[in-house]
Amino acid sequence: MSKLSVSVLSADFSKLGADCREVLDAGADMIHFDVMDGHFVDNLSFGLPVLKSLRKALPDAYFDVHLMITSPLEFIMEFVEAGANCITFHVEASNSIRCTVAAIKAFGCDVGLAVNPNTPVEAVFPFLYDLTIILVMSVKPGHAGQKFHPQTPIKLRKLKAECVKRGIDPLISVDGGIKIENTAPLCIDSGANLLVAGSAIFDAPDRVEAVHAFKALKKN
Ligand code: DX5
Ligand code: ZN
Repeated sequence: MSKLSVSVLSADFSKLGADCREVLDAGADMIHFDVMDGHFVDNLSFGLPVLKSLRKALPDAYFDVHLMITSPLEFIMEFVEAGANCITFHVEASNSIRCTVAAIKAFGCDVGLAVNPNTPVEAVFPFLYDLTIILVMSVKPGHAGQKFHPQTPIKLRKLKAECVKRGIDPLISVDGGIKIENTAPLCIDSGANLLVAGSAIFDAPDRVEAVHAFKALKKN
């Protein structure tokens, strides 16, 4: 069964804690926390104080923090202290990837590495043994509710094949335009085992039902 990480970018921020609680109680495995700096991506979202509040409200939740920021290394300690369980940064954002991976690990946090639609998935291969999550972006990062990039399944298959070749089984995640009816099953069949979904959950008429539907998807 694949895991589900719910992106709060499409939640109602006036009741963020309750929205997170609802999807976790429904069976979501983790909360995907999208941090944007208006520089690495053309949008701003939320950051440290919001994560800190959510951690306080949800002490047992797993927070999968997706840093879409230019200088991830500078903020590792703050995000760990605010409550991150995993910090995912972008291969395109850092020229000190090994150093950033080591810094995250040194704080006892899980490490994720993300790759944009226009970057070959091979860019993450040198770091595979150190990663808990490899995040294949299926949209250009920056906004919720975008259309799924058609090259994504090919990248997922390449990544899965490389992991099998090396005898490792990390979380292969996919983020952007993930819908229950089509792109979610396609990604699972292509090797993804951690789906990130925002608008498919928060814009659904019944979120609990939407979480259940994601969790019921099986590999063909
Ligand atoms: C995009 C973010 C995603 C986004 C997904 O930059 O990284 O996590 O919130 O939203 P949906 O599921 O609506 O495509
Ligand atoms: Zn994200």
